[in-house]
Amino acid sequence: MLPYFPFDQKFNDKIGTAILTQDDPLIEVDDHYQTEVALKRALLIQEPDYYFQAFLGHEMAQWEVVELILADLARQYPDRFLLQRAGDAWTWENRLLGERISFQFGDASTLPQAPLDWTGRQVQEDLLVLAGDGPALVAGQLCFGNVWSLEEKMGLPFWEIHAPITPIVEPMMRAAQQVMNRLPAGKPVWRLNWSIKASDQLDMTTRRVPDLNRELAELLPALTPDNAGEHLYVRIERQTLTRLPRSGAVLFGLHTYQNRLDRELTERPDAAERSPAERLLNVLTTTPPAMLDYKGIAPFLGPLLGHLEQKAASEVV
Ligand code: HEM
Repeated sequence: MLPYFPFDQKFNDKIGTAILTQDDPLIEVDDHYQTEVALKRALLIQEPDYYFQAFLGHEMAQWEVVELILADLARQYPDRFLLQRAGDAWTWENRLLGERISFQFGDASTLPQAPLDWTGRQVQEDLLVLAGDGPALVAGQLCFGNVWSLEEKMGLPFWEIHAPITPIVEPMMRAAQQVMNRLPAGKPVWRLNWSIKASDQLDMTTRRVPDLNRELAELLPALTPDNAGEHLYVRIERQTLTRLPRSGAVLFGLHTYQNRLDRELTERPDAAERSPAERLLNVLTTTPPAMLDYKGIAPFLGPLLGHLEQKAASEVV
């Protein structure tokens, strides 16, 4: 079952940011940790410059990410990660991967990769750093991007990054821009984004899109309300935004979760007497058509709604 299910009575056009408290992890570690970190590392070996990019001049922000994330992991999961610091001499133990490394904090030559790249290889999250006016995307490790890639967005300010979506949800994006401008250090926020996909590939960066489209074209003729649950996936992003205190940059973290639709509908209990099928149906039927198009749901909307209607009806006694 997904850890989050952001579906209720209707499509939500608000930004939906909430404060991340001291007790909430910035980074989430789940049962897929080993496989997903291994997948990230394999992608980074295959195409290092596609999945990681960093402009010069933002080294301090990269080190702030190292500090923030290692400290968060060690605090939230003390049985799995250990951080020892003696001045700038740091030792990191990742027990889930059986790895231990000593490095000099602030000296990139003592880590095997750039600080942000190395940190991204310790977590399931994609990590993006935005800085300056805008703020603009200045560094990132993005392996599980949902139909975008670093090469398209590096250097762009927040507003231009969202150019394809802004006309559809402009008030939401204006509010998001304000959050980006005003986010105080020490008060991170989080939100969820959702989609329905016809594939369980985690890497949906732009280079994968032609293959994904081909797979979708093959699937569509055979997709029916009866079998849609076996072929479609609910994909959720848990997004966090943290102002880095020294550089003033913002860290944007994305944890992608997915589950096959029929499994999610079976595993998830009803909430407020509404079944998960009904909640999903409520949202999909009130989502603006342009948004369904943007999210790539429009081609299989018919079988998807048909499936949810069947499920919702079968649950009414
Ligand atoms: C409060 C903060 C944010 C909000 C409310 C927000 C909202 C959205 C929404 C609604 C979409 C459309 C995707 C969908 O609904 O399926 C989107 C797409 C996207 N967002 Fe954000 N976002 C936020 C922060 C960020 C940040 C910090 C980045 C930095 C890289 C970012 C990068 C993107 C990209 C690259 C896309 C895809 C755009 C495209 O189609 O080319 N977002 N965002």
